[in-house]
Amino acid sequence: MSGFPQVRLRRTRRAEFVRALVRQTRLHPAQLIAPLFVAEPAQAGPVPSMPGQRRLTLDELAHECAQLEKLGIAAVALFPAIDVKLKDERGTEALNPQGLVPRAIKRVKAECPGLGVMVDIALDPYTAHGHDGVLDESGEVDNDATVEILRQQALMLARAGADVLAPSDMMDGRVGAIRTVLERDGQKNTLILAYAAKYASSFYGPFRDAVGSAALLKGDKRSYQMDPANTDEALREVALDLAEGADIVMVKPGLPYLDVIHRVKARFGVPVAAYQVSGEYAMLKAAAANGWLDEKKTAMEALLCLRRAGADMILTYFARQAATWLREENP
Ligand code: PBG
Repeated sequence: MSGFPQVRLRRTRRAEFVRALVRQTRLHPAQLIAPLFVAEPAQAGPVPSMPGQRRLTLDELAHECAQLEKLGIAAVALFPAIDVKLKDERGTEALNPQGLVPRAIKRVKAECPGLGVMVDIALDPYTAHGHDGVLDESGEVDNDATVEILRQQALMLARAGADVLAPSDMMDGRVGAIRTVLERDGQKNTLILAYAAKYASSFYGPFRDAVGSAALLKGDKRSYQMDPANTDEALREVALDLAEGADIVMVKPGLPYLDVIHRVKARFGVPVAAYQVSGEYAMLKAAAANGWLDEKKTAMEALLCLRRAGADMILTYFARQAATWLREENP
């Protein structure tokens, strides 16, 4: 060695006690949110492109949530797989106060009051064309007409008891519209977690299988979700959502967008969520099933790296498994 032989970075890597002392990032179940698919019994069952994930009946949901709460998971994010017979051009079922999602919220809040309940604000599980909003005469997603419906969906779900509303639609102005209607209704404690930088990603494929929108979707979502090539635009999206009243901002997908997570955290210093999406989960599961990757090690590394990049919290289909592994390591 030349120069300064006293500098040996390997000293702090040699033994686990010192690796643990210098470790800058940790993963804890309280930082995880579990996305869960819910369905009526006729639509329930496994999701083939997401091994280990099911469309849960409300009974199965209650059972799953009790286990997640025991594992110390912070919250669940509910996504409905709606009977195709209930889907229409305007996503009318999204506003039904007796619908699947409001019933799921009430069930979870009644049985697991300590578990946070988050719900998606968007129309894609409910529309016959699979888009997140309603279409105008030319077939484009109509921003302002959609925001008007999202505001009603948000109010209905807040009244049903959701702790966190998560607009995932990427319409302009929806966070402000939702925050305004919540304030007017006296729902001042309802959190808004905005899908602020949501990209038009091909990694959402398995999710669309799970909620049954893949086969229905006409065209793509590039006229409202972000171009994967851009990051300055992500900062503008985040700035707007914060100004409009978002409490937490999300970057989605996760691993291919670590630079975006980092820029958002560095610039704004606000709570940041990352969504390790369905395609990221499917990739790891498929490689592990073939014996090509170690599932536990790669999943935990991916989650840790999302935290290192700047995410305070992570939505991940590995939530239950990761919390179980963490518990095994720190009983
Ligand atoms: C729909 C929504 C999507 C996801 C969450 N909410 C899909 C989409 O935008 O097409 C994707 C989640 C995942 O892939 O895990 N508003």
